Amino acid sequence: HDSNLLEDVKARVRDVPDFPKPGILFKDVTPVLADPHLFGRVVNAMAAPFRGRHITKVVAVEARGFLLGAPIALALHTGFAPARKPGKLPYKSVMERYSLEYGDDGLQLHEDAVSRGDRVLIVDDLLATGGTAAATARLVSKLGGEVVGFSFLISLDFLPGRERLGAEKVCALLSY
Ligand code: PRP
Repeated sequence: HDSNLLEDVKARVRDVPDFPKPGILFKDVTPVLADPHLFGRVVNAMAAPFRGRHITKVVAVEARGFLLGAPIALALHTGFAPARKPGKLPYKSVMERYSLEYGDDGLQLHEDAVSRGDRVLIVDDLLATGGTAAATARLVSKLGGEVVGFSFLISLDFLPGRERLGAEKVCALLSY
């Protein structure tokens, strides 16, 4: 058990006011990723609740989700698949639309990114309204995968994301 992790991460997450729009307090995780020791501890802690849960694939969300999802997939010895904004994936894809804290968007997954029976962990840096993660879960289900859980670095618990996804499926290192 990595006892000081929460304090160490909290000290490094940088608050940026009015980004990307006025009124949004942006949680910048790049200082966490810049510290090699802290980065490793974060990856380990985000993977830990899902060890022994027979995860077969990690699906992570563009763009900051990739930075955490890929090392978590390696830590769990699973494959990795990127969920990307529309028009970014080269191969045949499935699509889901969603509304964001600030705007509307869509997400796509390659149609062979997840197979029927896959046990999937969805990873992102931050959970806000849950729209992004819920759309990712719908993509996984569309392809016949089972969403075992969600792992976030940060959860904004003054927003309804956690309940929306099913609180028992959601793990977050830090909550605000
Ligand atoms: C942020 C964050 C999550 C999403 C969470 O991504 O990285 O993916 O918003 O919001 P929600 O829970 O309200 O859906 P952003 O849209 O800023 O994309 P980016 O990582 O590509 O910059």
